[in-house]
Amino acid sequence: MAEAMSRAPDGETKAEAYARLKAEIESVVAGETSEVARYASAACILAHAFSPRYFWTGFYMVDADKPEELVVGPYQGTLGCLRIPFSKGVCGAAARERRTQLVEDVHAFPGHIACDGRTNSEIVVPVLRADGSLAAVLDVDSEQPAAFDAEDQAGLEAICAVLLTA
Ligand code: SME
Repeated sequence: MAEAMSRAPDGETKAEAYARLKAEIESVVAGETSEVARYASAACILAHAFSPRYFWTGFYMVDADKPEELVVGPYQGTLGCLRIPFSKGVCGAAARERRTQLVEDVHAFPGHIACDGRTNSEIVVPVLRADGSLAAVLDVDSEQPAAFDAEDQAGLEAICAVLLTA
């Protein structure tokens, strides 16, 4: 297991950063049987790497007892909402459609849930198990408007694709 989080080399591009962090997360979680431990490690590594652009970084997990509802999991940031139905918000849309939601302006997103009013943009990426079932969504929020682009989407999707299988 990695002993400490890696440092960004000088001049590292965003795509290179995501590739480095993906390798780091895979190495840290390899063989771990707890999904929660995997989410906690990824949230920590990503939040620290991209602070302060990442204002809230964490996972909403599908509730085993309520399959159409997300319950908050490990996160870094200010107090998050505890539960989000699949019918609500950006996280609910990502869970419902099993597709990444990249939202440049959360105030223009119908049904956006404002857990913290400082959030202006966000990206939410589904996390699937090896059997294809939806396990959780990764939610990253930013105070900056339009903080996320296609490179963030590609980087986070690549990380979420291996998060439960590494
Ligand atoms: N922004 C999310 C809600 C979760 S929090 O902001 C931590 C949404 O609309 O789904």
